[in-house]
Amino acid sequence: MDIDDYLSKREQEFNRINRRIKNFNVFDFNYIPKKPLLRPEVKVIVDAVLQYRQTNLPTHLLITGSRGSGKTLLIKYIANLFSNRELTFQYANCRLYNSSFKILAHFLDLRPRGYGLNELWQEFLNIHRKPTVLILDEIDLLSDKDRNKEILYLASRSEQNYMLILLSNNPKFLNSLDESIKSTLQPRMIFFRNYIVPEINKILHQRAKEGLRRIPNWQIRQIAALTVRDTNSDVRVAIKALYYHALEPARDITEIFRQAKHDIISDLLNDLNDRNLLILKAAINDTEKHVKSVYQRYKTISQHFGEEPFSYVYFYNNLSYLQSLGLLILISTKVSRSYTNRIQLLFNQESFQEVFDRRFD
Ligand SMILES: Nc1ncnc2c1ncn2[C@@H]1O[C@H](COP(=O)(O)OP(=O)(O)OP(=O)(O)O)[C@@H](O)[C@H]1O
Ligand SMILES: [Mg+2]
Repeated sequence: MDIDDYLSKREQEFNRINRRIKNFNVFDFNYIPKKPLLRPEVKVIVDAVLQYRQTNLPTHLLITGSRGSGKTLLIKYIANLFSNRELTFQYANCRLYNSSFKILAHFLDLRPRGYGLNELWQEFLNIHRKPTVLILDEIDLLSDKDRNKEILYLASRSEQNYMLILLSNNPKFLNSLDESIKSTLQPRMIFFRNYIVPEINKILHQRAKEGLRRIPNWQIRQIAALTVRDTNSDVRVAIKALYYHALEPARDITEIFRQAKHDIISDLLNDLNDRNLLILKAAINDTEKHVKSVYQRYKTISQHFGEEPFSYVYFYNNLSYLQSLGLLILISTKVSRSYTNRIQLLFNQESFQEVFDRRFD
């Protein structure tokens, strides 16, 4: 086939796809749908924000829930609703802005160099003299170097009574904070439980209505069931599977679903830092998979790749983090009269190996 033929053939294929998909944006994970599915926990958030606007007395919120349970989407949706109602919202994702310093510079739209933290904070106070809600997404990714988590101190102690909304998929995030921050913050805890099949069904249905020319009811039901069964209800996988189905409607749904899940896991593994990848590598290589033996193996592997290993405490914290991402679970098991934690891995090794080889060639 020469290049002209190839081009014409591909062009026809693209035209066929365009006949099925009317809006590609709905498959972007940052897309904010016109009418997201309302989960009951959202009412509690709306009430807390309304009350803050009315009284200027904040109740800080800590929203937790597993990956793809709608934390980011719903909080952004609420922030948009309130922005026409005289309340200011500031949003930062701590994956991108991983220190108090970078977060404040981001809020002020400044480059962080050349300023002190206090200087930035004073500037923030000057600009935000009215009630303001600070949303810190993926708060557990605030760097360990930012020991005192100053932004939480400053915001929760400020005389201007800012309200903090923290989002995390780590249910134990609060335990990682100093007692003194915990006591000033005293957040109200809101937990987004995993979606059930009918909820994911509705979310996909709505997406399909906005993005596709025909709604594949039967396939949506199948994807929703697989998402709950095989992924902890991660709606990202469901949306990706729906997209792949729209691209290749003739392909088997279970096959498409497997690919969507694989791609999402690869993205997740790709986002991990080197040390977390080494921890997972050690867990894969260790046959017993007890936390202590995996730690020994992790130290050896780290030395092999010239990385400084974490101390045991940090190693353990990182296991909790990897658990909150849904990559593993820690199971308490009895070994000769005492209990120890065993690591059970929740991803397939091929997805891992691809990412690992690319990083540690
Ligand atoms: N209630 C909902 N209505 C419509 N779409 C939803 C809903 N909940 C989640 N989604 C969609 O699922 C995807 C994942 O949601 P989101 O990013 O909000 O998850 P998250 O809880 O923030 O996950 P993570 O912990 O990984 O950050 C997004 O594309 C989002 O639009
Ligand atoms: Mg999120």
